Amino acid sequence: MEQLINIAIDGPAGAGKSTVAREVAARLSFVYIDTGAMYRALTYEALKHQADVHNEEAVMGHLKEMVIVLGKDAETGLVVVNGENVTEAIRSSDVTANVSYIARHEQVRREMVRKQQEMAKSKRTVMDGRDIGTAVLPEAEVKIFLTASVEERARRRHEEQIAKGMPSDYETLITEIARRDRIDSEREIAPLKKASDAVEVDSTELSAEQVIDTILDIVRKRGS
Ligand code: DC
Repeated sequence: MEQLINIAIDGPAGAGKSTVAREVAARLSFVYIDTGAMYRALTYEALKHQADVHNEEAVMGHLKEMVIVLGKDAETGLVVVNGENVTEAIRSSDVTANVSYIARHEQVRREMVRKQQEMAKSKRTVMDGRDIGTAVLPEAEVKIFLTASVEERARRRHEEQIAKGMPSDYETLITEIARRDRIDSEREIAPLKKASDAVEVDSTELSAEQVIDTILDIVRKRGS
């Protein structure tokens, strides 16, 4: 498919966005851009330098110094910040617990959006996040809003962690996911919200493969 389009995939934490976005990009030979990884990378940098995550000026100082490279190879999801491979580190519980605070700052969002728009300029990208269809790429040719129930998202995360041999508590995950949903949806700037022209896909009862097929179908029908 040689379509000159961008695909925006938004939705709450744990709905399976990155898994399906990565695979949709691979099948279309598009570039996958994980915008959550960009906010996570900045959070990692701020925490590493013991910056106050609530202090916008301090956080902006780190963003200005930050050179972030997202691996072109969608398979690995490589993230390099100022020459350091942070692919694993940005998934730590410390980063996860603080990233919503970082993503709340207005100047931070403005700069991230600018970087993301630059990355999508030549099209053929699949970008996932919270505000892609509404703020980053409002003109994206295909917009998906991917959801799943809180319980199902917690169940998937729980299984992932168990499979990795990590400690995991299902009830705690439910509380954490609901908390992040609240912070992401209630923030003043670019809250998590379905774009009016996005297609909502509820993945609660679907396998990853079914979600990927649904999205590829939408691309075939609407993206030409
Ligand atoms: O998708 P994720 O869990 O890696 O996202 C990490 C955090 O970044 C999450 O709290 C929401 C925020 N985020 C955002 O505000 N805007 C985006 N475009 C992507 C992520």
